Amino acid sequence: MDIEEIFQSLSVLVADPNLSEGKRVELLDRIKKLAAVLERPEDVLTKLAFSPSQFMTARVATELKLFDVIVRQGKVNSEELAETTGANKVLIERLLRVLTASGMVDEAGVSTYTPNKITKTLTSRTGEAMIRAFWDIKLKSMARIPEYLHHTGYKNPEDATNGPFQFAYGLKDQPFFDWLHEPKRAREHDTMHTYFEGDRGSRPDWVKWFPVEEKFFKNVKTQKDDVVMVDVAGGRGHDLDAFVRRFLDVQGRYVLQDLPMVLDDRALELHSKIEKIAMDFWKDQPVSGARIYYMKFIMHDWNDERCLQILTNVTAAMTKGYSFLVVEDFIIPDQGCPLLAALFDMQMMNALSAMERTEGQWVKLLKAAGLRVEGCYPPPGDGTGIIVAELK
Ligand SMILES: C[S@@+](CC[C@H](N)C(=O)[O-])C[C@H]1O[C@@H](n2cnc3c(N)ncnc32)[C@H](O)[C@@H]1O
Repeated sequence: MDIEEIFQSLSVLVADPNLSEGKRVELLDRIKKLAAVLERPEDVLTKLAFSPSQFMTARVATELKLFDVIVRQGKVNSEELAETTGANKVLIERLLRVLTASGMVDEAGVSTYTPNKITKTLTSRTGEAMIRAFWDIKLKSMARIPEYLHHTGYKNPEDATNGPFQFAYGLKDQPFFDWLHEPKRAREHDTMHTYFEGDRGSRPDWVKWFPVEEKFFKNVKTQKDDVVMVDVAGGRGHDLDAFVRRFLDVQGRYVLQDLPMVLDDRALELHSKIEKIAMDFWKDQPVSGARIYYMKFIMHDWNDERCLQILTNVTAAMTKGYSFLVVEDFIIPDQGCPLLAALFDMQMMNALSAMERTEGQWVKLLKAAGLRVEGCYPPPGDGTGIIVAELK
C-alpha cells in the first residue's frame, strides 16, 4: 500500500459515522507512533523547546481577534487584517506563519488566509477562554514550578494553601478558588468559569456512553418531588443541563449547586427544570436523599484530606440503599497513561496542589469516606471515567 492509499483509507475510516471514540483515539495514537518513526530525536527536543512560542502566538491572535476576523471574512490578506486589527502588517504575517504552519489557520495564497475547523473552535467562547485561562492565569505559576519544587526539596505538592500557585503569586494561605472568587477578580472569574464550561473538550459527555438508565432508573422510578440529581459544585450548570436534556422523561427535581457568586453570574440559559441552590461544600449538604450526587472535576482539585471533608458532607445527606455518588474524573491507569490525563495531573499540581487519581487511589479514598465502590468505569477513549459509589 503506498502513502496515498493509506491516506485514502484513513479518510474513509474517519468519515465513518460509526467510528467509536475508543477506535478514534486508538487510531490517533497509532498514527502518532507512526510519525515518531520518521521524527528525529533532536526535532522532538526542538519542538518541545519551541512549543511556548506557538501558544504565545495563539494568545496574541486571540487578543487581536485575528481568528474571529478570518472566520468572519472567509478569506482575508495580511493588509486587511492589519487594517481591521490595528496591528502592524509585518507582525501579522509573522504571527500567521506560526498559525498556518501549526494548522490553526489555512493559507490560500501569499499572505492570504482562510479559516478551518480549528480556527472556528478558537473563536468559540470556551475556546477563547481556554487560551486566556492557561496563558493569563496558569502559566505564571507553571513557569515557576521547577524553582518551587527545588525550594521544597521535591515534595509532592499537597497543600492547597501553600503550593506552586501561592509561591508564584505571592499569596499567603489562600487557596486558588478563594483567590479566583475575590470580587476584584471578575475577569479571571469569568475566564475560568467559561473555560470550565468547555473543559470536557471533544470527549463525549458521560450521558452518551455510561448506562445511566440501567444503573439508576431501571429499578427506581422517581416521582416529581424526588431529587433526581444534585450537581455538587457544578459551575454554571453545563453538565446538569446536558443530563436533564438527555433524560427529559425522568420525573423529579434537578439541583445545581455552587458558591453564590458562581450561580449568580447567569452566563448560561439552563433548562427550566434546573433549580439553583447556593452552597459551600465545606459545610453541610443542604439537599438530602437525592438519587444521584454528581461531582465532576471536584475531587481532583483537592488532596485526600480535603476530599474526605467534602465527602463527609455529601455522605451525611445520602440515603442508604437509595442514593449514589457519581464522581466524574480521570481514572489514571497504572501503566500506559494517556498524555492528556498526565498533563491534567500537572495542571492540578500547578494551581491547586492536587492530583488525578488511579483506580486504587479512588477506591481507597471513597472507602475511607464510608462508601462502597460499585464500579470504576473507564471512558471510551482518553477522557474522564465514572466512579459509582453508595453508602456501605
Ligand atoms: C474545576 S471546577 C468544576 C466545575 C464543574 N463541576 C465542571 O466540571 O465543569 C470546580 C468548581 O468548584 C467550585 N467550588 C470551589 N470551592 C467551592 C466551595 N467551597 N463550595 C462549592 N463549590 C466550590 C468552583 O466554583 C467551581 O465551579
